[in-house]
Amino acid sequence: MSAKVRLNRHETIGEVDKRIYSGFIEHLGRAVYSGIFQPGHASADEDGFRRDVLELIRMLDMPLTRYPGGNFVSAYRWEDGIGPVEKRPARLDYAWKAIEPNTFGLDEFMKWCRKAKTEPIMAVNLGTRGASEAMDLAEYCNFKGGTYWSDLRKQNGAEAPYNIRYWCLGNEMDGPWQAGHTTARAYGALAREAGKLIRGISPEAEFIVCGSSSAEIKTFPEWDREVLEETYEIADFIALHRYFANDRGTAEFLTAPEKMASQIETIVCTCDYVKALKRSAKTIDLSFDEWNIWFRSKGKDKNSSSEWTVGRDILEDIYTMEDALVCGGLLCTLQNHCDRVKIACLAQTVNVIAPIMTSREGGAWKQTIFYPFLYASRYGRGVALKMNIESGSYECGGRNYPYLVGSAILNEDRGELTVFAVNRNLEAPLPLKVTLENLNAEKILEFVSLHHADLLAENREHEEKVRPEIRTDAVAENGTVSAMLPAASWNMIRVKIL
Ligand code: AHR
Repeated sequence: MSAKVRLNRHETIGEVDKRIYSGFIEHLGRAVYSGIFQPGHASADEDGFRRDVLELIRMLDMPLTRYPGGNFVSAYRWEDGIGPVEKRPARLDYAWKAIEPNTFGLDEFMKWCRKAKTEPIMAVNLGTRGASEAMDLAEYCNFKGGTYWSDLRKQNGAEAPYNIRYWCLGNEMDGPWQAGHTTARAYGALAREAGKLIRGISPEAEFIVCGSSSAEIKTFPEWDREVLEETYEIADFIALHRYFANDRGTAEFLTAPEKMASQIETIVCTCDYVKALKRSAKTIDLSFDEWNIWFRSKGKDKNSSSEWTVGRDILEDIYTMEDALVCGGLLCTLQNHCDRVKIACLAQTVNVIAPIMTSREGGAWKQTIFYPFLYASRYGRGVALKMNIESGSYECGGRNYPYLVGSAILNEDRGELTVFAVNRNLEAPLPLKVTLENLNAEKILEFVSLHHADLLAENREHEEKVRPEIRTDAVAENGTVSAMLPAASWNMIRVKIL
């Protein structure tokens, strides 16, 4: 059983938008408190930001970070998190049954973004609040000065406006769990007005409107159509969210890349249908601003005795080798849909369903999924080539799935072609042969593989069981690249192109 791939320099999907390698920090569990922010910790800097975490985030090179939620934002008062810390109120966090101390807020986040080398996507509360508070927030963030909110920002230490460009107008408003959950029409009308006011202050603002919270919710994709019908004039992106779980065995779990692809393709059709309906020249792009694997922590989060406390350990999925395969495959899907997916945020970045974990007293460490994300972000920038794959396959739920999931990114500036490849054959290695057309391969620059005999192997603070292996057995000759992909592995092959 082998996999044959044909790549042609002129058969392209599009330019990969680097914003697909973005992240997400929500006031949830230990993402902020004891995640990115822990004054008094041995690695804390003068602002209380954990340097060990900053270093790992900078390695992941996340162009954007979505903040402050998530479900949290839909009952959040952003004003609670500004001004002198001792005067800030502690509040109940409706979404996660926690106490929000507000010792970290908007101004701290903006400062942190600069250090993390990321740019904010600011989410706005359209659950318990409305257009007026969204406008105040935009005035605080983006207006130059001479008004109540902009002068308050200056008083709080930020002389220059933040010029925040990306705004999420609400979060998952289709979900009955969401504070302020409503109909697509009502949400759409509110988002349109909020967007109009923000854009009045900030003409450069770009808006992400709430799409369906998952492809499995009953109202998908009807919700998306109705929201787009209401917001088409102000929207730039529609949000997609999806979390994958191993609830029907590994073979089925590994089909997540196809499920994500189908969700993307459905929403592209929905966007283009509304475009036609509106006789519009404008195309709406996709922001897959919550995606990941989330199920391992679920039963463990039920300890209600710790509810209504600050920063408790919830949603702390410890990822396995198997999760790294799924994560790697999902990244290929995002790259292969780069013609329409322009933003994507791994949900989330630290401690909460995240590639980076911390311990309160100890250090920061890398989960298994850190690695496919790291390499995709570092080497998955350039033009995505169409992958013509012929591979052995396996049957699952009445459908055949090729063992190989992959993507190929050509970076002309660096003179490099990078092939990402997941071998879904759990039992046997997969011989891979890539035929190159109009691409002159000089040599293999790097062949990295992630695999482990135990698919449930995890990383822990002082024990990294799943880590990349540098291999030397890939070959570039006579217009082909060949490599042996280990059973159940994620791989990256970088090739120097003349
Ligand atoms: O990322 C965790 C939660 O998942 C987010 O708060 C919410 O938007 C989604 O349901």
